[in-house]
Amino acid sequence: MSQRSCLSVILAAGEGTRMKSAQPKVLHQIAGLPMVAHVVKAAEAAGASGLALVIGHGADEMRKAAAKFAPKAETFEQEKRLGTAHAVIAARAAISRGYDDVLVMFGDTPLIDADALTVARRRLAEGAAVVVIGFRPPNPAGYGRLIERGGKLTAIREEKDCSEEEKKIGFCNAGMMAVAGAHALKLLDAVGNENAKGEYYLTDIVEIASAQNLDVVATEASFESALGINNRAELAQAEAIWQQRRRHDAMLSGVTLIAPETVFFSHDTEIGADTIVEPNVWFGPGVRIASGAKIHAFSHVEGATIASNCDVGPFARLRPGADLRNKAKVGNFCEVKQAVIEDGAKVNHLTYIGDARVGAGANIGAGTITCNYDGYSKFFTDIGEGAFIGSNSSLVAPVTIGNGGYIASGSVITESVPDDALAFGRARQKTIPGKGKELRERFASAAAAKKKAAGADH
Ligand code: UD1
Ligand code: CA
Repeated sequence: MSQRSCLSVILAAGEGTRMKSAQPKVLHQIAGLPMVAHVVKAAEAAGASGLALVIGHGADEMRKAAAKFAPKAETFEQEKRLGTAHAVIAARAAISRGYDDVLVMFGDTPLIDADALTVARRRLAEGAAVVVIGFRPPNPAGYGRLIERGGKLTAIREEKDCSEEEKKIGFCNAGMMAVAGAHALKLLDAVGNENAKGEYYLTDIVEIASAQNLDVVATEASFESALGINNRAELAQAEAIWQQRRRHDAMLSGVTLIAPETVFFSHDTEIGADTIVEPNVWFGPGVRIASGAKIHAFSHVEGATIASNCDVGPFARLRPGADLRNKAKVGNFCEVKQAVIEDGAKVNHLTYIGDARVGAGANIGAGTITCNYDGYSKFFTDIGEGAFIGSNSSLVAPVTIGNGGYIASGSVITESVPDDALAFGRARQKTIPGKGKELRERFASAAAAKKKAAGADH
């Protein structure tokens, strides 16, 4: 089948009023990726080499977004929303280039999997002219029903046109279709708009093709993969299904999730075998984790690279550009941004490391802060191999701590420190014998005098 060319036409012109959003519906995200981008991924995984995106509502925003998530896609603007068949025809220029298979997909059906599309394409390869992807929703109300006779699909009947008998049919139209490229435009151009809504229905091509004795069949996809999103409750439902699938895959690939339902992945999270993820962990986009890492509870990780056997959290925040090398450790209440933590280095407690390098084996004491920002620009802190930064130190960037450098606790370091040097950046301690007792006595007698004066007033 791989030698058959395939165009995916993705319908995404609708407004999606029920989202109650200023943003086009299909740009709302699942796992950190617009839902229409999930559809593009499925199309590509099913072998589509051409991508035609039909846009309308929010066209400029859609074009801008598409340039990022599908730079190869052509966009076609459907200026008036006159129905699903009319929308497909908006991509006439792409369809008429002559693909073997045309996959019609909806931008608001983000969980569609490549398997369902591949099965449909296989039926085209076997000679069908139109393949409709069907499904069995728990409640079929509102969906078009698939009317079959002798293994062939003869019609799709929208709910409001169904007889009582037809309403009992549980097999419904998921909306997506695979159409033989050779017939696609002829069938679409034959669709009229003589119906209650005055729209050009894509579903009408079933009857048109049957009347021409073309082979029309239905395949079946799971309810979940055909779930269409119309409001934010359904968006959350799709997110939940996506997360559940991803957690399952992660566990089967060798990742331990102690409480899987509390761990959230992004569309591009990579996570190696023998990594253990404790409860309540969030992975934002751009995270890569090698094998054998431990991600402790309540960590928030985004745009970070974590090498083998690292230890992160509990309560760690890794921001974009955090790059932890083998066996590095970032402990509780630490934030790391745009910084390399080299092999075996430890950033254990209450620390901010930003725009920095922490050399191999270095130890960063509790409360250390890299002061990387002066309100206008960001500056770099370079901490050498095996350096020791005493607790509660401020490293004012740009600054370099040499290999083996040793910083006294509570220092404010504004000048670079050479290899193996010891640096104090704080006032020398002064100790006055007996002065503590003297102070205490002075304060006590002052308080007593004040109390006595207050009593005398009454
Ligand atoms: C459609 C099917 C119905 C099926 C259901 C599954 C038709 C006529 N009916 O109904 O049988 O059970 O999907 O969810 O196809 N769109 C455009 N331009 C338009 C009209 C629609 O781009 O002019 C896009 C929408 O943005 C949406 C998709 O096409 O992504 C589906 O359109 P919608 O109006 O939601 O179809 P349904 O009434 O749900
Ligand atoms: Ca719909």
